[in-house]
Amino acid sequence: MCGIVGYIGNRSASGVLLDGLKRLEYRGYDSSGLAVLCDGKLNLRRSVGKILNLRALLTEQPLKGGVGLGHTRWATHGVPSEQNAHPHTDCSKRFVVVHNGIIENYSILKHNLIKKGHRFESQTDTEVIAHLLEEAWGKKNFLEKEYLDAVRGALNQLEGAFALGILCVDFPELLVAARRDCPLVLGVGKNENFVASDIPALLHATKKVVYLEQNEVALVRPKSIECFNLDGYRVKKEVVTVRLNPLQAEKANYKHFMLKEIMEQNIAIQDTLRGRLFAEAGELRLNLDLRENFLKQIDRITLIACGTSYHAALVGRYYFEALAKIPVTVEIASEFRYRDTFLGKKDLAIYISQSGETADTLAALRKNKKMGVKNLAICNVLGSSLAREADTTFFTHCGPEIGVASTKAFTGQLTALLLLAIHVGMTRGALEGKEAKELLNQFLKLPAWIRQTCALSKKIKTLARRFIGKDHFLYLGRNLNYPIALEGALKLKEVSYIHAEGYPAGEMKHGPIALINREMPLVALVTESPVYDKICSNIEEAKARGGTVIAIATEGDKAIRKKVSDVLYVPKAPDIFSPMINVIPLQLFAYHVADLRGCDVDCPRNLAKSVTVE
Ligand code: M6R
Repeated sequence: MCGIVGYIGNRSASGVLLDGLKRLEYRGYDSSGLAVLCDGKLNLRRSVGKILNLRALLTEQPLKGGVGLGHTRWATHGVPSEQNAHPHTDCSKRFVVVHNGIIENYSILKHNLIKKGHRFESQTDTEVIAHLLEEAWGKKNFLEKEYLDAVRGALNQLEGAFALGILCVDFPELLVAARRDCPLVLGVGKNENFVASDIPALLHATKKVVYLEQNEVALVRPKSIECFNLDGYRVKKEVVTVRLNPLQAEKANYKHFMLKEIMEQNIAIQDTLRGRLFAEAGELRLNLDLRENFLKQIDRITLIACGTSYHAALVGRYYFEALAKIPVTVEIASEFRYRDTFLGKKDLAIYISQSGETADTLAALRKNKKMGVKNLAICNVLGSSLAREADTTFFTHCGPEIGVASTKAFTGQLTALLLLAIHVGMTRGALEGKEAKELLNQFLKLPAWIRQTCALSKKIKTLARRFIGKDHFLYLGRNLNYPIALEGALKLKEVSYIHAEGYPAGEMKHGPIALINREMPLVALVTESPVYDKICSNIEEAKARGGTVIAIATEGDKAIRKKVSDVLYVPKAPDIFSPMINVIPLQLFAYHVADLRGCDVDCPRNLAKSVTVE
């Protein structure tokens, strides 16, 4: 979604802002812009499309000044255009605003402001904020206190979600930041400070950050940061040092972040396991606030997520049911939040989110919190809203995921879910010590299996070349690998724009088999498992109707060769680990098809990395 960067200090703001926006590109955007304050005047540059267009504009028309705001916009209200790109100003060009989120009551606010004589230049919801500030200013001399009252007054009128950066020409030494339901972080430098919607934008400048909480306003000056709540009371904040390495957010020698993130999954999984898995002792140390008694008493686990994280939740259901023998429901967060749901004190709700900022997942958490449900988050981003608001968090520690299409975060989530299921199973006595120890020992081999599977990349690229002209794909899996079929299809459609569907193979004959012809390739997940023979029959049914089948099969399975047109062999491993392994050829296939089709793999059209609005 949209990205915000703010700077105040003695460097040239435009260079710092442009650099920060570049680092936020992965969030997804369709236009960008800067506002820099110089000699009592606000100067704006905005452009449609990639940041290189904004850079070119700034080369032609440079901006001077040491305080400014930058923004990448992902259109919600109004088409991507220069006029709708942020920053936005009021009629007098006194205030300038950048905004992430959605102002739900903007139409009524806009209507009232127009009646009072304000002229709007854009179709955005954001512009109302600049005019609300102008309305409060009312042509009088503004003291700082009145300015801040005006900001609070404006924010109190807003319904919806926002992360904001605000500048006013009368206060050139002051950058105002505020948030509700959208993330915003402040970077602490030496004689300079920063505002950003995400930490990767700051890492090259500082590792010291202050997280802004719900309904807080920050006054950012070159040498100080002060925070207040919306009632004007000062809030004490902690400066946190983030441990991320800036190089983790670089592409290294890879063509795309997506490829880098696929190839580093063995390391990401090792990082998820580190300090938690003690195979020799047959022990897990998850360091979560989950009491033994509570785990023994719960009646049900509910897994809640969106997108790829939802697919991880679907695999998680199999893990908890098989290892902890407990009923599990899996929920799409955007549906769960508006349904009548009946979770209570004997439920454990688990929220899965790479970013920890997905609006629907957060809304589900807040709904359950009101009902007194115990909430556990599985999350990749330290300091994210989900992690801060949940009772306890299992951090996947996969490192920053920059590619919009989630890859390593997914295998990290599966790893976390399997560890949790083993832990709950052991605590409830559903999993015997010997069986658990055996499983933990196998777990240690997972990074090596992943590394071997990644070595298929070259072969998959050759295979992909034959399929780049296809318009439709069907992905089939059963049991643990049904969610992997869904995930494979999602990856392909996200990055290559080819229509793809994932299906439980046994459902084929209930409808989708009608689609199969020579033009509809199938990808079948057919590794060794208790349903191997069943899925082989499903493949035969497809083949009998002219379908071309690519199989993901277990090394050494010669028989499968006769049944399908192409086979990608993955290492032999216990079925329970197959989701983490089998998804890798599907990620690589999606990547290579998309790259060969010339798609913008890391920033696919219309997509945003973290979906902070409904
Ligand atoms: O950050 P989250 O895991 O909460 O994000 C959920 C989805 O928005 C995300 O997985 C999305 O589906 C990705 N584009 C998948 O590649």
